[in-house]
Amino acid sequence: MEAFVDTEIDFVAEIARLKKEKNAVILAHYYQTGDIQDVADYIGDSLGLSQQAAKTKADMIVFAGVRFMAETAKILSPDKKVVLPDFDAGCSLEESAPADKFLAFKAQYPEAIVISYVNCSAELKTLTDIVCTSTNAVKIVESVPKDQQIIFAPDKNLGNYLNRKTGRNMILWDGACMVHETFSADLIEKMKEQYPEAEVIAHPESEKPVLDKASYIGSTTGLLKYTINSPSKEFIVATESGILHQMKKASPNKVFHVAPTAKNGHACQACQDCPHMKLNTMEKLYRCLKDESPEIILSEEILKAAKAPIDRMLEISARFGL
Ligand code: 13P
Ligand code: SF4
Repeated sequence: MEAFVDTEIDFVAEIARLKKEKNAVILAHYYQTGDIQDVADYIGDSLGLSQQAAKTKADMIVFAGVRFMAETAKILSPDKKVVLPDFDAGCSLEESAPADKFLAFKAQYPEAIVISYVNCSAELKTLTDIVCTSTNAVKIVESVPKDQQIIFAPDKNLGNYLNRKTGRNMILWDGACMVHETFSADLIEKMKEQYPEAEVIAHPESEKPVLDKASYIGSTTGLLKYTINSPSKEFIVATESGILHQMKKASPNKVFHVAPTAKNGHACQACQDCPHMKLNTMEKLYRCLKDESPEIILSEEILKAAKAPIDRMLEISARFGL
C-alpha cells in the first residue's frame, strides 16, 4: 500500500510550530535537499553537526541526515531524545564494515591503533581509538606518533588520501562511498573542456584520479568556504549534489556544476545524489518531529564505549581550533 501523503499540511509552518512546542533542534547535513536545509537550525558537515549535538540545550534533536550521524548525536547527548526522518537512511561506508568482520581484521594487527571515519556504525566506534571526520582527519592522523601502526577504517579513498598527505602507511579497510566512487576523472576532463574557466574541487572520499584533477580537496564545509573565498566564478564540484544549495545561496553570482558520474563504464545521471541522504523528505521530517519516532536507541554499553573515541576527536579538534 502506498504511504498516505497529506498535501494539505504546510510542512514549513508545522515544523516551526512543533519545534517550538517540543523545544527541538533540527540539525541538517549539507547533503539534504534544499527545503530541509532551509528549515534547519544548523546546517553543517559531520564535525560541525557533532559539535552542535554535544552542546545543544534542546530536549530533542531531530537529525536530518543519515543514521550514523544521528547515532553520533545520541552518543554525545545520551539524555536527549534523538529522532531521524527515516531509520533506513544508512551509508555504504557503514555497511562495508560490520563489527564482527572488523574485529577479525583488527586481530591480525595487535600493535595497531584504530582511527575510524565517523561514517561507521556505533558498534565499530566501540572498536576504535580515535574517530575522525574529513575536516579533522589530517590533524588526527598527525597527532599519533609516527612509529605507531594505524588501522584506518572504513573509507579506503580517504585513507589513501591521508597516507599521501601525511606520509604514513596506515593499514586500510576496503570500504568506499557509493556516491564519491562514481565521480569520473575522464568525464570531469570533458566537462572542463565545456567550461574552461571552471575550477575543480573535490571531497577526499573521491578516488585518486578525481582528486588529481582538483585544485582544492576538503570536507563539505571546506568546499563551501573555498567557493566563497576563491576569486573563481565557476566550479565543478565533486561531492554529493546537496552542497550546491548552500554554495549557490552564499555566492549567487557564481556558477556551480556537480561533477559528472559514471557507473559500469556509462555516464550516470543520478549517482551524485546519495540514495540514503535523499530518503529524507519534508513530510518525513515533519512526521518524525510530530511522532518523536523513529528514535535512536543504543545500549548503555555502546553509548559509553563509543563516546570515548568521539570525545578524543573533539578534544584534538578543539586544540587546533577546528
Ligand atoms: P563531511 O560532512 O565531513 O564533509 O562528510 C561528508 C559525508 O560523506 C557525509 O556522509
Ligand atoms: Fe555514506 Fe557516501 Fe551517502 Fe555520505 S554520501 S552518507 S558517505 S553513502
